[in-house]
Amino acid sequence: MTTIPEHVAIIMDGNGRWAKEKGKARSQGHFAGVKRVRDIAIHANELGVRCLTLYAFSTENWKRPQTEVSYLMSLPEFFFNSYMKEIMENDIRIEMIGEREHIPSAALKIFDKAIKTSKDNRGMILNFAMNYGSIDEINVAVRKYTDEVLSKRRSNDLAGDEFKNYLFTKDLPEVDLLIRTSGEKRLSNFLLYQLAYSELYFSDRYWPDFDEQALDEAIKDYGMRQRRYGGLDED
Ligand code: FPP
Repeated sequence: MTTIPEHVAIIMDGNGRWAKEKGKARSQGHFAGVKRVRDIAIHANELGVRCLTLYAFSTENWKRPQTEVSYLMSLPEFFFNSYMKEIMENDIRIEMIGEREHIPSAALKIFDKAIKTSKDNRGMILNFAMNYGSIDEINVAVRKYTDEVLSKRRSNDLAGDEFKNYLFTKDLPEVDLLIRTSGEKRLSNFLLYQLAYSELYFSDRYWPDFDEQALDEAIKDYGMRQRRYGGLDED
């Protein structure tokens, strides 16, 4: 039996290249990608993963052509209209991290509804990073901490990993495993603080090809790692 990571985070990369290789439009790559979100979420929940955080839209993604941005912002509606029933049957709880500002109201509305409907579910947390950027998250957190210190609501005694309480992820478990698909080996402004001690796993598969078996392989690989957190092996 392998160790199941409590919190898995995924940079779902390669939708565009997947589409290009098949002579399809980029939107078709994203469409295949959103269906993969369903498969991987159901499977991760079955494996006993407690939290799955998916990088669905970064603060940098606004630089893409308007048509692609609009398409990406329409995906939550497709996703929840298609799969909310299954999400509830599987006891999965929806969460979202990122800056709400600039996300179109229709997408926000459907997210808020899914979060509310699933709030009492006790299975895996399926957490979407939408309009998320780690540098922005840290800037906002620093401002909040500084405000608290200046207004004397707290003393200037930040220590250890206490800063995590100022981040979007404050109520989520530590990230144990970060997966990036499509062969790229970058963090792309994703969970920079939260990944301090995470295991990193890079898959050559494009996200639409990252199936249940690929997740099993990543988790098996994770299970073979020895996490020392800067210490020494016990044996
Ligand atoms: C990166 O591939 C992928 C994205 C920017 C979007 C990922 C989003 C999904 C898979 C669906 C999200 C689902 C919901 C419900 C919000 P890319 O386009 O950068 O690929 P490329 O590098 O090959 O061009």
